[in-house]
Amino acid sequence: MMSNLEKTYTTQANFMLHGGDYNPDQWLDRPDILSNDLELMKLSHSNTFSLSIFAWSTLEPEEGIYRFEWLDEIIDNIFRIGGRIILATPSGARPAWMSQKYPEVLRTNAARVKQLHGGRHNHCFTSGVYREKTQKINRLLAERYGNHPALLMWHISNEYGGECHCEQCQHAFRGWLKQKYNHDLKSLNDAWWGPFWSHTFNDWSQIESPSPNGESMVHGLNLDWKRFVTEQTISFYENEIVPLRELTPTIPITTNFMADTNDLIPFQALDYSKFAKHLDVISWDAYPAWHNDWESTADLAMKVGFINDLYRSLKQQPFILMESTPSSVNWHQVNKAKRPGMHLLSSMQMVSHGSDSVMYFQWRKSRGSSEKFHGAVVDHDNSSENRVFKEVARVGKTLEKLVDIVGTNRPADVAILYDWESNWAINDAQGFGMETKRYPQTLQQHYRSFWEHDIPVDVITKDQDFSAYKLLIVPMLYLVSEETIARLKQFVADGGTLVMTYISGLVNEHDLTYLGGWHKDLQEIFGMKPIETDTLYSSDKNYVKYRNQSYELRDYATVIDLNTASTEGIYEDDFYANTAAVTNHKYEKGQTYYIGGRMEDSFHRDFYAEIIKELTLKTIVSVGHGKGVSVQVRQAPEYDYIFVMNFTEEKQPVSFKSSVKDMFTSKEIIGEVILEKYEVLIVEKAK
Ligand code: GLA
Ligand code: ZN
Repeated sequence: MMSNLEKTYTTQANFMLHGGDYNPDQWLDRPDILSNDLELMKLSHSNTFSLSIFAWSTLEPEEGIYRFEWLDEIIDNIFRIGGRIILATPSGARPAWMSQKYPEVLRTNAARVKQLHGGRHNHCFTSGVYREKTQKINRLLAERYGNHPALLMWHISNEYGGECHCEQCQHAFRGWLKQKYNHDLKSLNDAWWGPFWSHTFNDWSQIESPSPNGESMVHGLNLDWKRFVTEQTISFYENEIVPLRELTPTIPITTNFMADTNDLIPFQALDYSKFAKHLDVISWDAYPAWHNDWESTADLAMKVGFINDLYRSLKQQPFILMESTPSSVNWHQVNKAKRPGMHLLSSMQMVSHGSDSVMYFQWRKSRGSSEKFHGAVVDHDNSSENRVFKEVARVGKTLEKLVDIVGTNRPADVAILYDWESNWAINDAQGFGMETKRYPQTLQQHYRSFWEHDIPVDVITKDQDFSAYKLLIVPMLYLVSEETIARLKQFVADGGTLVMTYISGLVNEHDLTYLGGWHKDLQEIFGMKPIETDTLYSSDKNYVKYRNQSYELRDYATVIDLNTASTEGIYEDDFYANTAAVTNHKYEKGQTYYIGGRMEDSFHRDFYAEIIKELTLKTIVSVGHGKGVSVQVRQAPEYDYIFVMNFTEEKQPVSFKSSVKDMFTSKEIIGEVILEKYEVLIVEKAK
């Protein structure tokens, strides 16, 4: 939580970045197109371009033979028209000569099959050759462009992800384990519950990474492997940036994070809470499936809000939207175009949650290969007159009016805890419902009430400071260490309100269950203990009576043994009918709530409405509106910047109690205004 409102210029730029991934290396034999790009850049009000993301085979066509002249010219030309660049290290894809000459750079999958050259994002993170080669080319880039006035920021590789199981990686994994367990195999066997199915090791060399044709049942191993993959990826990244830190110490460094699946949940395979510490700026690639046929626009917008608040909270500072599409993507099941107005609305939503940019994949549609139909600013028609180009230019013009917002923050009194490790462990747990754990989606459901009430939320991770929040929500915190339990206890003792749910506090950091019932500190602060978790079939339902109303429960119900807690809600059905389902307990200066079942949305709405009242949680600026309109605020010392966004297909009346200024037209607004379908209003209010 940022208590002061000082601005943080994370990218060095004091303007909103607008532009995107630019691949001139695909067009070097078309100087007409490259010069046309410069005109189109101006017409689209773009100012920043990410270069050389996949340009390695153009930069180093043969081993040790470098070609930088084309890049010199592109960067100079962009700078000449007033543009800036984000320079990428090219390790996201490598030239064929390298895989051919040094097969160790190729990745080996979990089934121990060595991959052929092809695709991208497919190298071994341990390979000494690949580390040496990437560092070499990065050094040359830094030497050549490190002082170029156009250089804004480094973009390291592209969307790091995946894992390698080659012999070098096995060796590195064993080395990592030796360090972690102080060279004591007994403590590893203890942590991994060795005797189970005779899995005790008596030599480090017997340890192998998890595999579908080998070991997959040892949860401690699975968890440690995932931790290792994150750390090995970070170690690869750290190796990449050595020359950049040395030669360009003032240029900020980022790498683009991503989201998973249609639900837009945080990327699962890497623990971004650890990775974030190594970056200067968080950036991420957002591709929500707008106008899909399984949820409302507002439901999807809520999920976009959630993940933005997580990625922003990783560093508690503005972030960069590194990639988005101005129209459609090419990898959803159905690649629907953004409807008129949606591009501006969805882009401004990103800014409202803390982005200091709207960047695209891709600037120009490629002519061949798999991304030739992926949305772009410039289509194959090369025209500035088509609908998509005009919508991009509109976003560019809008961003130019938002310079004052750059660097501003979004303080919050409410935090929701997201934990990558707990998510890994809960998904690994053979128990409960195999399809219904849905940890990230559960967090989204708790976030929803605050999104609907326009109350800012930080989505934080377990190593962040809890103390400044009034309310901390930790749904399904399955894996929790003694240390985190102690910090949660302290948070409550100091006056915080803590909300926890079913399937929480069951295992420690080794994925070993706590013995002797629920952890005694949790029992102390909650004044109760969960004694049984009932898992339901999808056709099963139960109900919870809370404040004289009945709410539907599905999937999970926890049987509670009440001690000093008070009962706020009771189960209505089954063998635990009339027992506590929702509890409250005062502990020292604070209090806790435990929600025993997976409740429908309307329960969360009413439950959190009570808490919002009780803790006097406030919107930053009160704007009257109906359902599906989102109000998000960025704050500077003297001004609030308010984004009022209509995520519905109908007109929506909104009302301002006091006068605000439209940042686009500079007109004063007070009273009621009608927002058109997908319209966004961005206003400024002096404090
Ligand atoms: C990712 C990649 C880009 C591009 C886009 C397509 O985000 O980083 O290179 O492939 O997906 O949506
Ligand atoms: Zn490897």
